[in-house]
Amino acid sequence: MGKKEAAERTGKAVLDAVRGWAHERPPLWLLRQAGRYLPEYRQVRAKARDFLGLCYAPELASEVTLQPLRRFDLDAAIVFSDILVIPDALGQTVRFEEGEGPVLEAITDAVAVGRLRAEGAVERLAPVMETVQRVRAELASDKTMIGFCGAPWTVASYMIGGRGSVDQAAARRFALTHQEAFEALLDMLVEVSAGYLAGQLRSGADVVQIFESWGGGLDEVAFRRWVIAPTEALVRKLRSRVRGAAVIGYVRGGSELLVEFAQATGVNAVGIDHTVPVGFARRRLSGVAAVQGNLDPLRLVAGGEQMRARAEEIVEAFTGTAHVFNLGHGIRPETPVGNVEELIAAVRGGE
Ligand code: CP3
Repeated sequence: MGKKEAAERTGKAVLDAVRGWAHERPPLWLLRQAGRYLPEYRQVRAKARDFLGLCYAPELASEVTLQPLRRFDLDAAIVFSDILVIPDALGQTVRFEEGEGPVLEAITDAVAVGRLRAEGAVERLAPVMETVQRVRAELASDKTMIGFCGAPWTVASYMIGGRGSVDQAAARRFALTHQEAFEALLDMLVEVSAGYLAGQLRSGADVVQIFESWGGGLDEVAFRRWVIAPTEALVRKLRSRVRGAAVIGYVRGGSELLVEFAQATGVNAVGIDHTVPVGFARRRLSGVAAVQGNLDPLRLVAGGEQMRARAEEIVEAFTGTAHVFNLGHGIRPETPVGNVEELIAAVRGGE
């Protein structure tokens, strides 16, 4: 058994795999599994005032969290929320524009960092805790409940850039020219995120995932300082509040520095995107942490034989190791629902 710690097996397959247990076929869930590709999501979404309103309405958010599990044979639910609820709770203006994604009032100097309000931020996220409680109450006992937050660097890059960007140039420039203010912002995000994740675990989440969606594109010095160091601090602070907290660190755009990331941060599992070769992940990561991933979401959009063949290659690459099957990045809105069913059957080992 690929087991490193003396953690009891719980029968929740995703939690067990994250903690180091190997399964004959890997358990699975899908990044961003609730969302616009589901007609029932679009229906609920139309009832909410706006996207953040949906995140803060526990009744609707818990319904949307459970939708993919009603339709598909998935092993985990991930609480419906967004990584940008933290900037919102810190007092920054966050809007989600139709067809454009998130738009924030960009932070351009130290004064703007000083205006953020960390006190009370976790308390302002109480509706998310209530969503977790509601989902846990309805979820079968063999399903894993996942909580999440954005990693400090990824969240900071939205807060500084004001929106998503290909290269996070605004955030990289700010980090290099306003070092002190940038470090203060990362520290604040570490503190609030630790409290937020602890709250989700106490409300019934089994595992938490930290999304480093903009972890690529940094040089090695920056990756160590802005990705590895704050994530290490976040995991340590979280575990000082919730002992033995099970953590998945997802990094989009990971390189061979993922090995150092896994070792230094102490995450239980590393989530990898589809650009990471499975042979490398098996040889270099599987000895250090469980691995989650990594089918290209476009293979799921296209479907058919190429999707099933690649899914099987991924499953086989990690045979005998602790592996959670997943996509390399979030499911896309244009994904045909039938392809999701076929993918799940393929991962389960249906001939
Ligand atoms: O099932 C789930 O996982 C849903 C919960 C969830 C959402 N966002 C809901 C959402 C999760 C885990 C996220 C994480 C998230 N949010 C990330 C990290 C994962 C990743 O994709 O890299 C990031 C970078 C964000 C920020 C964000 N939120 C963006 C860039 C966008 C716009 C792009 C898009 O996918 O629409 C959002 C909006 C968002 N978050 C939607 C959903 C369902 C769509 C908005 C809508 O329904 O109107």
